[in-house]
Amino acid sequence: MRYTAGVDVGSTQTKAVVIDESRTIVARSLIDTGADVSRAAQNAFDAALATTTIPRDAVGYVIGTGYGRYKVTFGDRQVTEISCHGRGAAHMFPGTGTVLDMGGQDSKAIRVKPDGEIIDFCMNDKCAAGTGRFLGAAAKALGMTLDDLGPTALNSDRPVRISTTCTVFAEAEIISWLGKGRSVEDILWGVHKSIANRSIGLLRRVGLVDGITFTGGVARNIGMIKALEEMLERKLNVSEDSHFMGALGAALYAMDHLQAGEGRTEERVYAEARA
Ligand SMILES: Nc1ncnc2c1ncn2[C@@H]1O[C@H](COP(=O)(O)OP(=O)(O)OP(=O)(O)O)[C@@H](O)[C@H]1O
Ligand SMILES: [Mg+2]
Repeated sequence: MRYTAGVDVGSTQTKAVVIDESRTIVARSLIDTGADVSRAAQNAFDAALATTTIPRDAVGYVIGTGYGRYKVTFGDRQVTEISCHGRGAAHMFPGTGTVLDMGGQDSKAIRVKPDGEIIDFCMNDKCAAGTGRFLGAAAKALGMTLDDLGPTALNSDRPVRISTTCTVFAEAEIISWLGKGRSVEDILWGVHKSIANRSIGLLRRVGLVDGITFTGGVARNIGMIKALEEMLERKLNVSEDSHFMGALGAALYAMDHLQAGEGRTEERVYAEARA
């Protein structure tokens, strides 16, 4: 059996995924990117392999993606994270028309063709208002962990209206709401709704077509899933592996490369698996 890997070096977290020839994920790892980007890439890849008995030389092709993709020095090629999120989403959720990737620093809306090829995309501006960093600022202001933000927000029945769009001022606004006696639940639900609202603006700019797949680390947040679903009045495609979608897309492109010589397209691999 041969394998490929995708390493998504994000501004905040680094994700590595290893897939087999049937394009199934056989290993994954997630670490903080930190200051040493090259090391993060290597560590994430090593950590994923260490969860298996797969030897390094059985991994035939490695693709780096994410903002630190050129630091994946052991990789064979780089592909942009827009392409990789599109590809991963279309693979995991056939019928995907739009992808929303919410990461630590950036949010991106991506329109894709059925095979995951990019039609159009748009990103938040330099500002982190609609991203994980804004949620991180809220968690800090309230002394909470990221894991608790979403579940707590869901207990709100009267969300506050968050007016700041600036991560720097988010903390001050949250403290001011606390001073007015509003509950942590209501403040957090307000924060989630405000971020969801910005993301929906991005989705509308590329065209809100059905089959919306939510990717990136913020897709782990149940509060953000619910806020988006409530405001969009439809369900999103989300999976436990949504955070790994970029790395998965990279690993899929790598598998295309490996199998190209044998004329095995993704469709043929599926047909073989079904046979
Ligand atoms: N367990 C969790 N619960 C809730 N949110 C989480 C969790 N883990 C990570 N996140 C969110 O995901 C964000 C990181 O997501 P991701 O790894 O997709 O970003 P990135 O790829 O490093 O950033 P970018 O794509 O902007 O360069 C964190 O900022 C955090 O807000
Ligand atoms: Mg990312």
